[in-house]
Amino acid sequence: GKAFGSDSDLSVCITLALYIKISHPICLFQGSKVNYQNMNFLCKMGASFPQQCLRERTDFKFPMEITKVRQRNATMMIHELLRQIFHLFSKNLPESVWNASCIEKFQNGIHQQIEELETCLVEELSKGRNSSRTGVLNSTTLSVKKYFRRITNFLEDKQYSHCSWEAVRMEVRTCFIFIDCLMRKHMA
Ligand SMILES: *[C@@H]1O[C@H](CO)[C@@H](O)[C@H](O)[C@H]1NC(C)=O
Ligand SMILES: *[C@@H]1O[C@H](CO)[C@@H](O)[C@H](O)[C@H]1NC(C)=O
Ligand SMILES: *[C@@H]1O[C@H](CO)[C@@H](O)[C@H](O)[C@H]1NC(C)=O
Ligand SMILES: *[C@@H]1O[C@H](CO)[C@@H](O)[C@H](O)[C@H]1NC(C)=O
Repeated sequence: GKAFGSDSDLSVCITLALYIKISHPICLFQGSKVNYQNMNFLCKMGASFPQQCLRERTDFKFPMEITKVRQRNATMMIHELLRQIFHLFSKNLPESVWNASCIEKFQNGIHQQIEELETCLVEELSKGRNSSRTGVLNSTTLSVKKYFRRITNFLEDKQYSHCSWEAVRMEVRTCFIFIDCLMRKHMA
């Protein structure tokens, strides 16, 4: 099919980029802007989804319960997602196929976002909102960890092939949609 051809792939990126660009300001001044930039680097990192990789498309089962967390818990979840993405994109990348400069900018961008979020979390803590270490949040954190474990296992099984990475890059785009939704809803 044409589903993952270059046109639709590009339009997904553009749509997301615009969507992220118009999002509300959050407690971090640079938050949504950096999110937009990271998304852009992820899009430009490689070409559109290659036809020969279609059979590697996998449902990693994004932990949807994350969309239910609120306020400070949402900030912590975004932080956890970004931390996991940063870790995921730190090794065994298909560097011969992907654009090295985009990979580096993506890694730096995520790192910056994580640091800004940590500042934000410390600020919120000092305001006394610290009711987060509860069972529900723990179980959500665990779901996030399991989700990234599934992704890592998949890459290991496929010996970090180019196609397996393309499937993961596609999945991480989905993560960014949810990250943006959480930011817009809970960090304004
Ligand atoms: C964080 O999640 C816990 C458990 O669901 C909840 O009790 C707490 O009120 C939440 N905190 C905020 C700020 O949403
Ligand atoms: C890599 O991406 C950068 C930034 O988008 C671009 O300027 C550069 O030409 C790209 N390099 C290659 C080899 O495609
Ligand atoms: C967190 O909240 C508890 C009670 O809800 C309080 O005893 C504790 O001092 C708070 N910790 C911080 C770091 O604010
Ligand atoms: C949540 O996790 C924290 C730290 O990981 C732990 O100390 C706490 O007991 C857990 N709470 C519940 C209700 O499981």
